[in-house]
Amino acid sequence: MDAAPSPPLEYQPGFGNELCSEALPGALPHGQNNPKACPYGLYAEQLSGTHFTAPRAANRRSWLYRIRPSVTHEPFHPINFPNESLTADFSAGAVTPNQLRWRPFPVPSEPVDWVRGLFTLCGSGRASSKEGFAIHMYVATESMTTSSLTNADGDMLLVPEQGALRLKTEFGLLDVAPGEIAVLPRGVRFAVELHNGAARGYVLETFQGHFALPDLGPIGANGLANPRDFLHPVAWYEDVEGVSYSVLQKLEGQLFVATQSFSPFNVVAWHGNYVPYKYDLARFCPMNAVAFDHPDPSIFTVLTVPSYTPGAPPTADFVIFPPRWLVAEHTFRPPYYHRNCASEFMGLIRGQYEAKQDGGFLPGGASLHLCMTPHGPDTATYERAAAGGACTASADGPAHLGHETLAFMFETSAIPRVTPAALSCPSVDRDYYKCWGPTPQQHHQHHHHHQQHQQPVGEEAPPKAEADGSGGASGGPLPQWNAQPVWDVLNYYFSWDADEDEDEEVALVAMFAGIVMMPAKRRVGDQLVELQKVHADLHAQLTAIEQSDDYQKAASLLASDPLARLNKKKFSTAMGHAWDTYVSLKNQMASVCANIAQLEMTMEQPAMKVLVSDKSGRVMERPFKDLDYVNDSWVNKLGKEHKALKRENRELNQIYHAFQKVNRNLEDEREARRDEAPPEQIEELEKATNDAITEDAFAASFWERAGRLVAPSHRGLLAESQAFAASSRAASTKKVYANPWEGFKSWCRAGGYCYLPASPVVVGMYLTTVAKTASSYSTVKLASAAIFMQHDLACEGVNPTKHPFCKAVRAAAKHLLGTAVLNQNAALKVITKIRARMSAAPDALGAALSAQQRLLERGRLLRAPAPAAAAAGS
Ligand SMILES: [Fe+2]
Repeated sequence: MDAAPSPPLEYQPGFGNELCSEALPGALPHGQNNPKACPYGLYAEQLSGTHFTAPRAANRRSWLYRIRPSVTHEPFHPINFPNESLTADFSAGAVTPNQLRWRPFPVPSEPVDWVRGLFTLCGSGRASSKEGFAIHMYVATESMTTSSLTNADGDMLLVPEQGALRLKTEFGLLDVAPGEIAVLPRGVRFAVELHNGAARGYVLETFQGHFALPDLGPIGANGLANPRDFLHPVAWYEDVEGVSYSVLQKLEGQLFVATQSFSPFNVVAWHGNYVPYKYDLARFCPMNAVAFDHPDPSIFTVLTVPSYTPGAPPTADFVIFPPRWLVAEHTFRPPYYHRNCASEFMGLIRGQYEAKQDGGFLPGGASLHLCMTPHGPDTATYERAAAGGACTASADGPAHLGHETLAFMFETSAIPRVTPAALSCPSVDRDYYKCWGPTPQQHHQHHHHHQQHQQPVGEEAPPKAEADGSGGASGGPLPQWNAQPVWDVLNYYFSWDADEDEDEEVALVAMFAGIVMMPAKRRVGDQLVELQKVHADLHAQLTAIEQSDDYQKAASLLASDPLARLNKKKFSTAMGHAWDTYVSLKNQMASVCANIAQLEMTMEQPAMKVLVSDKSGRVMERPFKDLDYVNDSWVNKLGKEHKALKRENRELNQIYHAFQKVNRNLEDEREARRDEAPPEQIEELEKATNDAITEDAFAASFWERAGRLVAPSHRGLLAESQAFAASSRAASTKKVYANPWEGFKSWCRAGGYCYLPASPVVVGMYLTTVAKTASSYSTVKLASAAIFMQHDLACEGVNPTKHPFCKAVRAAAKHLLGTAVLNQNAALKVITKIRARMSAAPDALGAALSAQQRLLERGRLLRAPAPAAAAAGS
């Protein structure tokens, strides 16, 4: 146990009771909450934890008496460090029926405070509707000395695994070591200081309600977690002024920061029943079976978050597996195999959990089994217990589950969704399922009965985490989002069929990458789409009013007598309320338009920061403009690897070669159609692309910037050069690009992607959709040229269309579409031809033909023969 460097703190015991505390004698007002003048000139401030009219038993609030009110701060603004690892909305997460396990999350070597080290693993619901919960890991290597956090999203239960913490709160100090827990209610300002070096642990955040003690039913009045063991701080304050203090606020998973000149921990006295607290898990008084069989693990519930609906399952339970005696006779003592209605997230504070002997479930790691996912003791545990071996848990007499082990569970009734970041982080243990497979000894033992050579099952191999060096509790970079080949992760968790069309797979991986990499842009994009809906709705309402008689009357009255409006009574009596409504809608419209313009600027703002990972997988923040598409390079790399795999696939190669032999006619037909295309059309397109750089399609902001840049005496020259540059292009050619560019923009907006600069992944996907419906390659090429031109002009040096992925898509489209028409009718003709041939074809060729036919029928137009695609991709 870690020792606190300072004398033990004072606490107040109880659970949910009314408490009061003052750090200076007489600081707490007597007989009322907010007297006209508080003692010592303090400010009274209420902090409510429930709605004002909540039933008395559930009502939570506290009164704080502070040196300065909390409101004394500069305006909040979004924080400028990456917080994409943090979320409070799980509508976009992934679910999987597979068992999930994470090896210990690495603690970074660089300075990271508790807030920056928060990393969301999974959750359900969303903070915006105060429903559901989130589960995070935290890692920290430095104390929060001049910053505090307020979580507006819900209560947080902290389970330290490594490193003792001092929680500075508005209510006072709490020292919390591994083996203890703390609850920080919604809204309470706190700072996390480290007592002795790096810290790591788990957080259960509930968006609804508060943690409560479970009912005890037939157990009676005592047992499990007893109320008197929950400890609350005593008032403590620091009177620090003239500093630059950062007050952080988490709201819907986003972090905001405001600065103020004084410490927020300036509460001299307080009273109430809405107070942070801690609890030592060693005080838990467990109940258990004393004859045979197992009670359900609900018997170990420490705290619960009740549902809004009485009698409904709790939103979340915090359950521990404490040291205890096992005495059940003729009973399989490790936890039984099960599939539960609830979902279970498990963590390990210390020791080795009784149901996992394989060394893969380690302190600082985690496991997650969603609703009805089967799990239970691993094979090693099962064999040891069933054989009645030396393991204490399998003996028939009383056995003690050692004090060195402490595991816990966050059990939830709603199904948690896993964040893409958690699914793709390097800690994911993709061999987890193997712990239920046969042990290596089983083969030898069962076949040769060489029992004397069998090692103890638990010692068969060093723990995986040690073997691969990632299990250490120190060193290593921050939790990494995308260093792991996402392809493998997807392939494992979603068991994607490796024989599926490869282009589609690469596109899906790319979309996954988009979720990981661009949540900030997506958020802005989503807002933009929402506002555009509001805009359309307002426009419709305004149009309806403009067509009404009342409006016509009002308009003509105003036209003849502009002052009529001043006599408001007369005017509105004459016109009904139509005019008022119209004016109000017009105002709303103006505000919506301004918002849209601002969001569009944000979307096009190249200075927006994004997270990228370098080749070693280290995650860092970069301006979006300078992003060198690291995420896309691994998509491309994975695509190449995948193609290499496919080339090795003998069966496919056979099909391909067989198909090539019999398909000469089809190829000839394509060649013929390609030859039909007028060469001057191609030349014109290519010339257009090359000339695009001189096109006067510079963003308006370019000219604005230019206008500010040049000396006043040169403004005339600037206008002249603008006109000069524009004269290099015919107006008709400019028009050629306008529509394809608009098409791309609206497609991006609908998908929530940034279009300037656009990721090559986005461009590749868009060109794919264009190719699917295009009748000839020129359409694809035109779209690509339009995107090329816009980027060439607007984003110096960054052009997604040059990316190998986009090149590959264009090559594939060119190969398939040629420049001639290959529409559905043509495809059907090909199919008919193939069918006719099939009647005469030998078996292998028949298989090849039917494979090709199936593809054509499925409309997967991008299936180019492997050599062509490989050449284009390299
Ligand atoms: Fe379980």
